[in-house]
Amino acid sequence: MGFLHKIFVASGFLLIGLTTNAQKKSISQQVDSLLQLMTLEEKVGQLNQYTGRELTGPGSDKNTNKIKDIRAGLVGSMLNVKGARETREIQEAALQSRLKIPLLFSLDVIHGYKTIFPVPLAEAASWDLDAIGLSARIAAREASASGIHWTFAPMVDIARDPRWGRVMEGAGEDTYLGSLIARARVLGFQTNKLGGTDAIMACAKHFAAYGAAIAGRDYNAVDMSDQMLWETYLPPFKAAADAGVATFMNSFNTLNGIPATGNKYLQRDILKGKWNYRGFVVSDWGSIGEMLPQGFAKDQSDAAFKAITAGSDMDMESRAYKGSLVQLVKDGKVAVTLINDAVKRILYKKFELGLFSDPYKFSDTTRELSVLNDPQSRVEARNMARKTLVLLKNGKSVTGSSILPLQKSGQKIALIGPLGKATRDLEGGWIVKTDSNNVVTIFEGIRNKIGTGPLYAKGTDIAGNAVTGFNDALAAAKEADVIVLAIGESWDMSGEAKSRTSIDIPGQQMALFRAMKATGKPVVAVVLAGRPLTINELADSADAIVYAWFPGTEGGNAIADVLFGDYNPSGKLPISFPRNTGQIPVYYNHNNTGRPVTNPKNIIYKSAYIDAPNTPLYAFGYGLSYSNFSYSDLKLSNTDLSKNGKIVLSFTLTNTSKRAGEEVVQLYLRDLVSSVVRPVKELKDFKKIMLAPGESRAVDFTVDREKLSFYNQQLEWVAEPGEFEIMIGTSSDNILLSTKINLTANK
Ligand code: GLC
Repeated sequence: MGFLHKIFVASGFLLIGLTTNAQKKSISQQVDSLLQLMTLEEKVGQLNQYTGRELTGPGSDKNTNKIKDIRAGLVGSMLNVKGARETREIQEAALQSRLKIPLLFSLDVIHGYKTIFPVPLAEAASWDLDAIGLSARIAAREASASGIHWTFAPMVDIARDPRWGRVMEGAGEDTYLGSLIARARVLGFQTNKLGGTDAIMACAKHFAAYGAAIAGRDYNAVDMSDQMLWETYLPPFKAAADAGVATFMNSFNTLNGIPATGNKYLQRDILKGKWNYRGFVVSDWGSIGEMLPQGFAKDQSDAAFKAITAGSDMDMESRAYKGSLVQLVKDGKVAVTLINDAVKRILYKKFELGLFSDPYKFSDTTRELSVLNDPQSRVEARNMARKTLVLLKNGKSVTGSSILPLQKSGQKIALIGPLGKATRDLEGGWIVKTDSNNVVTIFEGIRNKIGTGPLYAKGTDIAGNAVTGFNDALAAAKEADVIVLAIGESWDMSGEAKSRTSIDIPGQQMALFRAMKATGKPVVAVVLAGRPLTINELADSADAIVYAWFPGTEGGNAIADVLFGDYNPSGKLPISFPRNTGQIPVYYNHNNTGRPVTNPKNIIYKSAYIDAPNTPLYAFGYGLSYSNFSYSDLKLSNTDLSKNGKIVLSFTLTNTSKRAGEEVVQLYLRDLVSSVVRPVKELKDFKKIMLAPGESRAVDFTVDREKLSFYNQQLEWVAEPGEFEIMIGTSSDNILLSTKINLTANK
């Protein structure tokens, strides 16, 4: 590049820098200027969020108090209003207010808007951060075309208890994987700069530790040490904040006796203080008002006072701010500076989205029509769904060949079970659109694959005691060479307020399985669920198991792609599968005890159960492939790690099969002696690698001081000198290479 060219380019960057800086400064200035014009009532209005489902569509009433409040400038945001036309209509009401401050339209776009992607826990099973980011990107593109500015996602709650139905919405039990996925989802929704018409604000939720609800019962109290909070539950939120997440949502639970909504430690000391977070916090639905039954606030005014003081900026549907904040300021109980700070945070985002310059930029019906009918979205939904499927078992047929993949011809298939032709169930929870007609069922997926419909019988319902369908199922099975049994949960057995004391496969489905097994035909179980289920009997007796979670709009095609080998399964479990609920919580990165079980046959006076092993049925990181892989030749650049150094580990991964396939190689480590005991292993890196048949490839991991660090008893982030075990494996319970490294004293 010539000298003049360099000058030109440099000045260009300088100009962009100044402009951006000036633009950024101008947003702050514009916020400050607008704030000075606002009355106290209008300021409190910006902190008020209503749901608006009933305000649009047939039979809607335009003369409700909500619309009056919107016209009066007493509402800052609406949730559950969707559609380019519908949002424009409500925005027009907001633009009739004195200062014409546009509304933020928000919605739970959790795993797709019109094109439904697999539920988030399923996407975590892909271990494919690019694919996860793309899924969020497509969801944002569709939602923004329908007038949505802001999604209440990603949910980044670590969850180790599958009795809790919301485990479906997160990324599973691991903090490292969960943090990377949090970042990928935030950037997928927002891109790296808000302001475009296909970038929407994301929301890191539920702050914080909601996934640790006692007994897995939703909305229940959470009690944990600061060590556990900082070590396990906060990092994904910090990763979201570092990725620039525009908003946070607090949580319904109390944390150590203090409701998250009224928790100054969480929202001011950590989030807005230590992390210097500049976005805004929305309360979860009614959570401000819920501080009354929690026994933390005596009335609505007290709740409003405690929430605004603790750093909750926007009030979702409790009406406490609208009802009490103005008076609290007038009575001198709440400083107007607190209100101003919250309002500025919210206005900043509205400017950043460009809503002041064009309040209708997301409400373009022409764009909506084209984006929502883009066939590429379904192609990507199918690609993602295939990556999420986890092959848990693949037995041998009588001829010695593997049961899966199935043959596309010459093999008569019977599809049995209540989820074989299910549509809505394949989408899972948190679906905001209204029809499921565009879902590809498992039946249709198989038919698309082999050209003719398989034999089919429902057999039984998902729940209940109906067995009258067994005869049809037996008749179909009798004609078949192989049975595909589609069983599991209905979509509404997982998700919010769907805690279960038993996580068995419900109803008579396992009785149906036994009846199918009794025919002597091979049975391939395809399990649909939003959580781990206790599937011990399937593990023992099914000939093959594909865990399909809730795979979304293209679920049937994706499942058929795996069943017939057009896609080689690559999913790995992001959460441990307990053998029974008595084991819960069971997770891979547990601390050791003074009496570890080293020989399962000798558990006398060991930390063990007398009626079940300690180990889960399926471990975190587990998942089979149609290929096989070997791990060999582990080498280290050095075994001693100095303070600012690093160690490069390399090994050879080989695909020893005749089929191309992907392997997720996982790096775990253990601090062998430390001032606070450390888990027996922690995931610290992974790579998903595609290898051709017979191909070998060198794989490198780098270990540095950061990967050896943890929170000590004083909650300082430290790496302590000493020995560490490094483990590389195909699953947390299948380590294939290991070695030791040494962190030398602080030199
Ligand atoms: C809820 C959920 C939260 C959701 C909000 C708005 O009750 O806890 O995740 O975003 O309501 O629908």
